[in-house]
Amino acid sequence: MPDPAVITVLGVAGSLRKGSYNRALLRAAIELAPSTLRIAAFELDAVPLYNGDVEAAGDPPGVAAFKQAIVAADAVLFVTPEYNHGVPGVMKNAVDWASRPPRGAPLGGKPVGIIGASPGMTGSARGQSQLRQAFEFTDSYCMPQPELLVFRAHEKFDPAGTLTDEATRSYLGRYLVAFEAWVRRLRD
Ligand SMILES: Cc1cc2nc3c(=O)[nH]c(=O)nc-3n(C[C@H](O)[C@H](O)[C@H](O)COP(=O)(O)O)c2cc1C
Repeated sequence: MPDPAVITVLGVAGSLRKGSYNRALLRAAIELAPSTLRIAAFELDAVPLYNGDVEAAGDPPGVAAFKQAIVAADAVLFVTPEYNHGVPGVMKNAVDWASRPPRGAPLGGKPVGIIGASPGMTGSARGQSQLRQAFEFTDSYCMPQPELLVFRAHEKFDPAGTLTDEATRSYLGRYLVAFEAWVRRLRD
């Protein structure tokens, strides 16, 4: 039985890289989440490129698992890198699968949050705002504020991928408190 006192969140990082700052940021979110917000990471390795013919024959196992995990969670936290001033294909592809079918899609009516990291000065800002646009079409409830942009990410994580920057840890903690309140407002 789900515990109504706990908000469950599916955490999705849009990078497949072992040393990914965004996957590391998701691990930090799992660590720093309030005790009433439970985040579980979903890895996108098994989600193939979207193909309408494949979809028509039935969702591949990686896609079915992803969509079921979204349905089962109260909310989804997307942790996105920025590629060429936009959302990386890995992340956009996953969102595209989860936006199907158009009526009754797992992302429809789902509370979502966006955070992200990049070694540059903008901390994935443009990737985040492009992703936010996609959630207009999926009819998801994307938390407007606060934002979390982890800029100069290479200075904020140690070589093992632990978020060591105290200010960023503190911002992330406050972001997660706000996200929990956002999800509760929509759920309760
Ligand atoms: C194809 C490509 C395009 C990139 N474009 C941007 C960009 O537009 N803005 C930015 O801040 N970083 C950009 N980067 C750098 C990424 O932010 C950096 O590689 C980051 O570490 C990727 O996220 P990850 O560590 O989670 O894998 C780009 C990297 C790649 C591979």
